[in-house]
Amino acid sequence: MTARFDLDTVRGQFPAFNRTVEGRPVVFLDGAAGSQVPSRVAEAVSGYLIGTNANHGGPFATSVESDAMLDAAHQAAADFLGTADPDTVAFGANMTTLTLAVSRALSSTWQPGDRILVSRLDHDANVTPWTLAAHDAGVAVDHIDIHPDTATLDLDTLHDRITDSTRLVAIGAASNLSGSINPVTEITQAAHRVGALVFVDAVHLAPHRLLNVEAWDCDLLACSAYKFFGPHVGLLWGRRNLLESLKAYKLRPASNQLPDKWMTGTGNHEGIAGVGEAIEYLADLGRDVDPTAESRRQALATAFRAIGDHERELSLGLLDGLVRLPGVTIHGITDAALIDQRVATYSITHDQLSPGELAEQLARRGIFTWAGNHYALPVTEALGLEPGGTLRISALHYNTLEEIERTISALGDVLAR
Ligand SMILES: Cc1ncc(COP(=O)(O)O)c(C=O)c1O
Repeated sequence: MTARFDLDTVRGQFPAFNRTVEGRPVVFLDGAAGSQVPSRVAEAVSGYLIGTNANHGGPFATSVESDAMLDAAHQAAADFLGTADPDTVAFGANMTTLTLAVSRALSSTWQPGDRILVSRLDHDANVTPWTLAAHDAGVAVDHIDIHPDTATLDLDTLHDRITDSTRLVAIGAASNLSGSINPVTEITQAAHRVGALVFVDAVHLAPHRLLNVEAWDCDLLACSAYKFFGPHVGLLWGRRNLLESLKAYKLRPASNQLPDKWMTGTGNHEGIAGVGEAIEYLADLGRDVDPTAESRRQALATAFRAIGDHERELSLGLLDGLVRLPGVTIHGITDAALIDQRVATYSITHDQLSPGELAEQLARRGIFTWAGNHYALPVTEALGLEPGGTLRISALHYNTLEEIERTISALGDVLAR
């Protein structure tokens, strides 16, 4: 059964949609670079600063309340990621910073002769931290290739290149350039067969699908709340025994207990308050669809079913419109029958106009998209799309079919000139 949420109610919660360009409402199709936030998230951030604002671990009221908020945010994040253990989630500056930290810690366990496997479908934040760490540890780096026609992972190259010496497989859950969703469970199974750990970059998938570290059976996962309707805060999850046994690069007075061991320095408490609220926003969306949800995790599962259903329509609308535009190439899955193997993130190029020119023309018409390599440099390099990259049109659950139609029509006008 199709799960539905009320789109007007959703959109009414996002003040950004009141913005106009030349009298017309802005169309935000830059979601892959960062989502808009509902008012309640902004209020949670300012509410924390105005009413609580304290450092961690003090005996006085504001610090006690602040720590209670942190505990609640860890629990919300655990529900969001699909773990029962809130202490296995660390908050940090962003995914990149957390990945640089954990890669350094992991690499101190590697020996010369070990190998790691990274993919050519990833954002650079899930490649360069690992290649730098491998370089420092004297470890070789192998690559999973991609199918250039669909911008999907070539799993044969994963199976060919994974060996008993592979210590780590780093993969994305979905590509922030092509929108392709990766078969994370299949990859973890292959990695675990040879004793390798799996790090999942879930940044791009997080606003589109329910994350599930337990079902995926991965070892480490990172994502970023500013992509799922929250503030600029990163999240790192790891298996308890791994997070406990690894040596974290941290200061001497800082706690050795989880999760504090991995939360170096003073946290962005107001941002973390906003992360908890963003997860509650999503859970409430699920509760609106099905008020019988018994837990926040269940409500989140319902929310993401509804989000998936709505985004499928947006994705089919984008696909249908883009394939009809003359001179346009879509870099990603274009078979409508495979629509559930991608999210509504479309990267295109045109045979005459550069991605930058297209984004500029759309911006003038109040349509916000992104041009360039989107830091998915391994992908643009593999597809031969450097230096211009692509025009990326990325929809989230708050977008409407009318916005997609307006965008396709605007692109049609731009290309016809
Ligand atoms: C797929 C993917 N991974 C990693 C990152 C980096 O995340 P952060 O900005 O939190 O460091 C991004 C950011 O765009 C991304 O899209």
